[in-house]
Amino acid sequence: TPIAELINSLPKAELHLHIEGTLEPELMMSLATKHDIALPYSTIDDVRSAYNFDNLQSFLDLYYLGASVLRDEDDFYRLMWDYLCKCKEDNVVHVEMMFDPQTHTERGIGFEVFMPGFTRAMHQAEQEWGQSSLLIMSFLRHLSEDSAFETLDAAMPYLPMIAAVGLDSSELGNPPEKFARVFAKSKSLGLLRVAHAGEEGPAEYIWSALNELDVHRIDHGVRSVEDTQLMTHLASKQMPLTVCPLSNIKLCVFDKMVDHNILTLLDAGLLVTVNADDPSYFGGYLNDNYRALAANLPITHEQVRTLAENSFKASFLDDVQKAHWL
Ligand code: HPA
Ligand code: ZN
Repeated sequence: TPIAELINSLPKAELHLHIEGTLEPELMMSLATKHDIALPYSTIDDVRSAYNFDNLQSFLDLYYLGASVLRDEDDFYRLMWDYLCKCKEDNVVHVEMMFDPQTHTERGIGFEVFMPGFTRAMHQAEQEWGQSSLLIMSFLRHLSEDSAFETLDAAMPYLPMIAAVGLDSSELGNPPEKFARVFAKSKSLGLLRVAHAGEEGPAEYIWSALNELDVHRIDHGVRSVEDTQLMTHLASKQMPLTVCPLSNIKLCVFDKMVDHNILTLLDAGLLVTVNADDPSYFGGYLNDNYRALAANLPITHEQVRTLAENSFKASFLDDVQKAHWL
């Protein structure tokens, strides 16, 4: 089989996906019109041509701006529904999605607006084609520890709908240990844990996510190659890394896809997975990410199969559910 067919036909899980990062320019413009919001773009092409990023922060500025068009429950429903339809198309049979409550609560839109919108779409997709999905509540690390605690408090009535907590936004200068107490409280509430680390930040931040936040996965983690002891540790623990190839190129973590280190990580025995991160901003959904690897790196059919299998191994599915896909 050609590798493109293999990529399409393999059942896959997606583990690093920001639902706010799936907001397509078409929906952004139509919601701006619906709510009479002024955006610094006149056309869809204007939006797309603004997506030329130098680093993580230059992306985040446009990501928070884009999210400002999400106002009512139907907007959040539509955002989630469109993404889950894409999962069906890409054979993404299970997804663990991050959402950023503070992106919305900071502008006066509460859990009672976005949670029912998200969960209505998730239940509908589950009913219509058996789509499996769960939510990861991600704290914005550029905001204070107090703000994260307030967010956890506001989430209390919705905890049955939330599987895990995460940590995203501006990494440099906001190390994992800033949120050690929030993650400890989250753990005591029965929440699982992930954190972005080693995307722009150093390998030390990966150690800190492991030791101070007690995470089950590292989001990104590509800078682990800078610390051989860390590489050995990640391999021996089979600690998953949720790698996002197109994201890393758009945010200049690597110059070109041919320079990406994903095969180095795989060859070192790490539990590597492929993910889309913020597909509408980075130019592709999950299968686009696999195709970009196949087009630029000497990746084998066997390695593509391993990456897809790893996505289930690294997931929060229980052993019976994992066995179904492995
Ligand atoms: N890194 C950090 N914060 C984010 C990202 C990311 O890739 N996407 C959305 N928020
Ligand atoms: Zn991310």
